[in-house]
Parts: sequence; structure tokens; C-alpha cells
Amino acid sequence: MKPYALLILLLVFFNCKNESSKHIETSDESYKIETKINNILSKMTLEEKIGQTNLRGTSSRVKGELPEELKTAVRKGEIGAFLNVMNLEYVKELQKIAIEESPNGIPLIFARDVIHGFKTIFPIPLGLAASWDAEIAKKSSEIAAFEASSAGIRWTFAPMLDIARDSRWGRIAESPGEDPYLASILGKAYVEGFQSDDLSNPTSMAACAKHYIGYGAAIGGRDYNTVNLSEPLLRNLYLPPFQSSIDAGAATVMSSFNEVNGIPATGNEFLLKQVLRDELQFDGFIVSDWDSTVEMITHGFARDEKHVAELSAIAGLDMEMTSKAYEHHLKTLVEEGKVSVKQIDAFVKNILRIKLRLNLFEQPYIPEGHTGNLYAEAHLSEAKKAAIKSTVLLKNDAILPLANTAKVAVIGPLANKPHEQLGTWTFDGEKKHTVTPTDAFKKANVKFQFAEGLTHSRDRTNKGFNEAIRIAKNADVIVFFGGEEAILSGEAHSRANIDLPGAQEQLLKELAKTGKPIVLVIMAGRPITIANIIDDVDAVLMAWHPGTMGGEALHDIIFGLSQPEGHLPVSWPKTAGQLPYFYNHKNTGRPAEADQFVQMDSIPIAAWQSSLGNDSHYLDVGYAPHFPFGYGLTYTDFKYENITVSQDTISFNKDITIKASITNTGKNDGKELVQLYVQDVVGSITRPIRELKRFKHVNLKSGETKEVSFTMSSEDLKFVNSKLINAAEEGVFNVWIAPHAEAGLKSSFYLKE
Ligand code: NOJ
Repeated sequence: MKPYALLILLLVFFNCKNESSKHIETSDESYKIETKINNILSKMTLEEKIGQTNLRGTSSRVKGELPEELKTAVRKGEIGAFLNVMNLEYVKELQKIAIEESPNGIPLIFARDVIHGFKTIFPIPLGLAASWDAEIAKKSSEIAAFEASSAGIRWTFAPMLDIARDSRWGRIAESPGEDPYLASILGKAYVEGFQSDDLSNPTSMAACAKHYIGYGAAIGGRDYNTVNLSEPLLRNLYLPPFQSSIDAGAATVMSSFNEVNGIPATGNEFLLKQVLRDELQFDGFIVSDWDSTVEMITHGFARDEKHVAELSAIAGLDMEMTSKAYEHHLKTLVEEGKVSVKQIDAFVKNILRIKLRLNLFEQPYIPEGHTGNLYAEAHLSEAKKAAIKSTVLLKNDAILPLANTAKVAVIGPLANKPHEQLGTWTFDGEKKHTVTPTDAFKKANVKFQFAEGLTHSRDRTNKGFNEAIRIAKNADVIVFFGGEEAILSGEAHSRANIDLPGAQEQLLKELAKTGKPIVLVIMAGRPITIANIIDDVDAVLMAWHPGTMGGEALHDIIFGLSQPEGHLPVSWPKTAGQLPYFYNHKNTGRPAEADQFVQMDSIPIAAWQSSLGNDSHYLDVGYAPHFPFGYGLTYTDFKYENITVSQDTISFNKDITIKASITNTGKNDGKELVQLYVQDVVGSITRPIRELKRFKHVNLKSGETKEVSFTMSSEDLKFVNSKLINAAEEGVFNVWIAPHAEAGLKSSFYLKE
């Protein structure tokens, strides 16, 4: 047996558990890698070097015969990596040509968007973020890598680390939510899961932290739109998740489609060279997003394709995805002295470094016996666990959990939609493996009748209403599975109105007339505004798009075999008109206050123009979100008491401990997500009203009390100020131990120089 085959068997046996200590590249190893890089580089012609910067791909997959021209290009060393080649024979054949026939035998990397699972699909990333659980995030990407690497994929375009403050943006589904601290923890976990302890492990994949940077700040949530960011905001909010994933060893970074302050990210020397390379010390390679190089012409930043190549090269972009500006023009630009060979060598070094770390020179092919254990029991069980951890209970008027004797009317367009519940960016997960809610209810012998009521989420007809109402009348309780189809979120799928689409609200209103209690389960890629129907339903569960095992997870939650564990990673608006909305906003000179704001209906007719008593709010919806960041109910209740701080005054770099006691006051055992927020009251630039600094899951039996404590120091209070200095500042800090961003026990301390 070949040694690597044994390794694979062991990995399969342990179901991809990596118990060994984290692999850290020693200076000795890195010296060896750098020596190899220089050795290879010294033998390469300029054409071959440019070839390494070429990521060639197709929009879905190479079908039919493997085009002869591709083989020829690989043979000549004109391609460095491929995207979306999903035929195992082609992967092997192309790699064989690269190794055996190309001038220096440099292996190819095969890439794919493996975003929240390869075959076994986990909840969408926004759902996984709702778990606030680094362990499950890591597990999801570890399993994704194990499965995908069996198809030859050693590079994924994930994790997406774009902070998202606007639920209209379709790609919020793929984001870690609105908070930089939570996003940083998740970013690290994803990278560690994809890349495993050691990138040379043939069942790992190189991660790609994307989209660098500010992509989520598109104006109005319109995808690809303009981004204006002050440098402190860029550094305080958008950069930390990238920093954390790079510190965790992310092998690659993708430059985003958008411009930042007038300069497209892909041609932005400040962002790529100064920030990413010099400050964040990134030593992997930077790839452009799909055509984001040539789109600089449309942005109005580059004159033509040649100018695109020049701007991208000067900015420090190492590899170009699909477009061919480098392939067509780099050589001429070198000959004209506009781009230096040194610059191109730097690109090639960055790319070869990752190929060497992936051990592709030694092990270019999929190891024998590595089947990926696709849809293995252990993978499905983690996917189910993840869906339970991601589901957020938003409302519960003592209806959930249901008794297992309850007669249930299962209604709604997403109750049995195996494709839709997988969510956006699931190219490879097959719907025949999906367990829908109706599948799970059948398997568990739930007494239920099923009528969709609406054929799909956008269905505007009422043809199915009568049947739905008929079964509702025969039942004790209605469980309505609504939301959005998978295609309504994701790239280029922004919505201006984020209510339940189609006639779902009308159907819910009709069902409410039966007087039967209603449990609304939402499957969607974003928060859905439900202010119009919240009073018509008794409970609301947000399941996001929960993935392959979503049905079983929801069955267990609905019938109390498990508790919903999720908490919102984004503020949930009452209406899209409130967007963008985020908890960590500034105070303003006139902060909104409950007893002060003016409601539209209270304004007298022909009122005299006045701003007295006004503050920062909307006349029609006030100022608060429908549900705040961090919010999530369970099947029990918790009481927070007695916040204490270890010192009233702390010096720089000294620890402070903040404690509170939490009691489970309900009848069921439960798990609480305890959150620590801080406010820097006066800053040299104004500071957010709260910022998440720590969180902890705490298990409490019914009646049990535990003291929860958090420790931090001035390191956690640093921010980038207007002089671009990253430092904590002397002064008063408020601190809260809280169940979500708009509640909690408050205390304060003084940070002294
Ligand atoms: C465009 C998307 O923005 C990016 O996230 C993705 O990885 C690439 N296309 C490749 O499919």
C-alpha cells in the first residue's frame, strides 16, 4: 500500500478528525520552500511565469470532450490553475500534462466555489454565523474540504468575510453578518477547517478570504455597487475578519468587484500592497474576482485591457480569474518597461508558495482510495447539528415545543422543497439527499396532513388556499414553512422589498382566521420583514436555508427533541426602509429615545414646522429593529443579575474581569448565549454605542445559577483613529453583560494611561 493511501484510510477511519497539534511552518521548512521557489523560478521563461498568473475557468463545468486548446495551453505552461473542472478524468489528464509535459512540471490547482458544503450541504454561512459557534463552523469546512478534495478540488473560494449591514443585499446570505468580532472568530474557524492542521494534507483545501474589501458596503444593498469608506471605518469594521483569517494562515485572498473610494479593489495598490501585504503580512496569493480586472474599464478606471493589466500588476494582483488581461498584455508591458520582471517574479513566488504548501509537487493527484465519504452518516449528523445550532427562535407564545401527539397541518411553499432549502451557492449538493420537513415528519410518524397552499415562494395565486384552510381546520396546530427560494438571495439577487414574497402573507392571514395556532418557520437567505404578520402567528423560527439535514433539525426543534440554539448575527429590520441598520452605530447628537420620539400619527394636522423633541428615528417605524443583533429565544428563560467589574480603574495592558450571574428561571434545561458589549464613551473620533467583545455559551439546568465572567484588557479597546493610529484611549468605558445588543446589565470602568 502506498503511504498516502494509508493516510487516507486513517483519515476516513477517524472521519477527518484532526487531533494533532496545529502545523506551523517552521523557519526551516519555509527556508526549504523559498529555496525551491527560487530554484523553479530561475528556470522559468517570462511566458511560463505569466502562465502561472492565469486562472482559467468556465461558468459551470467543462462538458463534452476536453478541448484540445486547453491541453496545449497546459503543455506550454500557459495556465496556472483551473476553476470548475468537475470531471475527474479531465482533472487527472490536465494535471498529468502539467506535471509530465509542461516545461517545469509545475502542478495546476483546481478550484471551485465550495461555500457551505460540497455534497453534504450545511446551513448557508449567515445561518452558520447564527450558531455563534466556531467549532461547528470549522467542522463544516473540514467536511466540505474532505468531500471536495476527492474531486480534485484543492482550492475553495471561501470563506466570504464581508461585513453586511443591509439585508437587501443578496450576498448577506453568504456573509458572517454585521459584527467584526464574530466575523473574525468565524473567519479563523473556516480557514482552520478548510486547510486542516497542515495544508499539505491531501484532504484539505486552500481557503480564499473574500471579497477584499468592502463588498458588503455597496450603496443601498445593490450588488456590485459603489463603496465609500473612511479609512477608520475600513480598518475598524471591514478589515478585522481578513486580518484574523490571514493570521490563521489563509492561503489566498480574492479582490472584490467594487471600488473603494474611487479605486477598484482589484487595481488598488494601497489596499493590496500597503494594507494586505505590508501591514497584514499576507504571504499567499491574491486572485481577482471573476472579470473584476477588465471591469475596471466599465468602472471608468482603466482605458482598455492593456491598461487593466498594467494597473492590476502595479497594484500587486497575483492571479487573474477568467479574464485575460495578463495573458494578453503582461509580456508587452514588461518589454515596454511598464511592469518589472521583479513584480512578475513576486506573483509567481506567491503562487508557487501555495502550490508547495499544498504539496502538489509531491502529490499532484487525488490519493488512491480517497472517496470523500460523500454524504457519510457522520457528515450528515454534523450538518443536522449545525442546522439546530443555526435556527433562531424569534417568537414563542407558549406554543413550542409541540406535543408529539399534536395533529399538525403542514402548509407552505418550503415544506417540501429539497432544492430550495439547500440555499445559494450549492453547485454540488444533490437534492435527492435532502431531508425536507415533510420527509422528517413522515419518518418520525408525526400525525400530519400536508397542503402547500402556494407552489413556490413567489406564487401569487390563491388556488391552493382552500385545501390549506381545510387541513388547518382539522388540525390542532398549523406549521407553515415559508420564506424565500434559494435563488432569491446570493450574488446579484438583491431585493428592495424583503417581505415574504408572493401571497404568503395573505395565506397566513387566511389561516389565522381558522383560530388555530400557527408556527411560522422561515427559510431564507436574509432576514425577512414580518411586521405585517407577526401578530397573526404564535411562534416564529428562522431556519435560514438550513441545508441537507434541515428537515430533521426542524422536526427535532419543533417537537422539543432539541432546542433552537441560534442568535441573530444581523439586526432584523421591521421594514426595508430602515436599512442599512446595525447595532454598532454611533450615538449622533440626537440619539433616538423611546419617550422622546415623535410618532407620525401623533403630529397635529397643519402642525407648525418644528424640530423640538425630535431625534434620530423614522416617524412611521421608530428607531429600533424588529429583533436586535444577538437575539434568540430558547425553550427556557434566563435572568441576569449582579454585574461586577474587578476594578473601577485599569491601566493599559492590565486585565479587567466583568462578571454576572445568570439563572435559568424556566422549567427546561437550556443554553444561553451570554454576550459582552463595550462602549468607549468619549473618543478622539466618535465611537459606536456598543461593540461586541466576547461571548460564551452557558448550559444551565432548570433553576441553576452560574457566574459568567469575561476578561479583557486595553488591547480589546483599541481602534483606528483619525490619525490612523491603532490605540486604546484613556477614559470611561461602559460595559454590558447581555442577552442581545439592546439589553443587559450595565457597569463601567476607567482606562488610565
Ligand atoms: C464571482 C463571485 O463574486 C465570487 O465570490 C466567486 O468565488 C467567483 N465568482 C467564482 O465563481
